[in-house]
Amino acid sequence: MRRPLVAGNWKMNGSRAGNEGLLAAVAAGAREIAGVDIAVCPPFVYLADVEAALAGSAVAWGGQNLCQETGVGAYTGEISGAMLRDFGCRYVIIGHSERRTLYGESDAQVARKFVAATAARLTPILCVGELLEEREAGTTEAVIARQLDAVLDAVDSLGQAVVAYEPVWAIGTGRTASPEQAQEVHGFIRRRVARKGADTAAALRILYGGSVKGSNAAELFAMADIDGGLIGGASLKAEEFLEICRAAQSA
Ligand code: PGA
Repeated sequence: MRRPLVAGNWKMNGSRAGNEGLLAAVAAGAREIAGVDIAVCPPFVYLADVEAALAGSAVAWGGQNLCQETGVGAYTGEISGAMLRDFGCRYVIIGHSERRTLYGESDAQVARKFVAATAARLTPILCVGELLEEREAGTTEAVIARQLDAVLDAVDSLGQAVVAYEPVWAIGTGRTASPEQAQEVHGFIRRRVARKGADTAAALRILYGGSVKGSNAAELFAMADIDGGLIGGASLKAEEFLEICRAAQSA
C-alpha cells in the first residue's frame, strides 16, 4: 500500500503577509488528516518563513527547482540542494514543464538535477508530461519514456523518489485529464520504472498534476496507479488544498 502524497506547487505566487494565513490554515487542517503526506513548495525566498511556520507540523516543504551542481561556487542566481536542506526541505520538484518549456531545461539537465537532489538527501518529485500536440500525434508514451529514461539511465534506482505525471495541456487550463487517461499513463510509468527494478516500481508514488481541484481529486485518486497529486492553483487556497488532501485520505 503506497502512502499518498499531496504536494502544493505555489509557482511564483505568494507574499510574506499572505503566506502566513495560508500556512497556518493548512497546518491546522492537516492535523485532522491521517495517512497522507502533505507538502508545500513555495518560492525559495519564502522558505525560511515556511520553515518557521511549519516546523513541528504535519506538513513538509520543498523547493520548486534546484541547481544541478553540487557544492558551492560561481553559479549566479542558483540554489543548491544543500541549501534547500539547510532550510528543512524534504522535497524538491524537478523538471516541471514550465522549467522545461520556459527555461529550456533538457532531459539531460533534469537528470543531473535529480542526481543532485538525491545527493543532498532530498526527495525529488520528477515531473513528466506531454504537450497537447504530442498527445494528438499519438506520441505521449514515447515522450514520457524519453523523459523517464533520461533519469533512469543516470541512477542505479529511483529510490524514494516520486514521479508526477502532468500533461502540459492540463496545467492551469482547467482541462483535467480524465481519470482513465491519467491512469493509462500512470500505469505506463510504473511499467517503465519496473524495467529497472520491480520493487522500486511497486513502491513508487506517482502523482497526477494538472487542474486538480477539490471537486475532481477523489475520482483521480481512486485510480489504481494514482498515488496523490501535485497541485498548482488550488494549493493557494487552504480549504481547496485541504479538500484535495482529504480526498487522498479516503482514496
Ligand atoms: P495546476 O498546476 O494545478 O494549476 O494545473 C499543476 C502544476 O503545474 O504542478
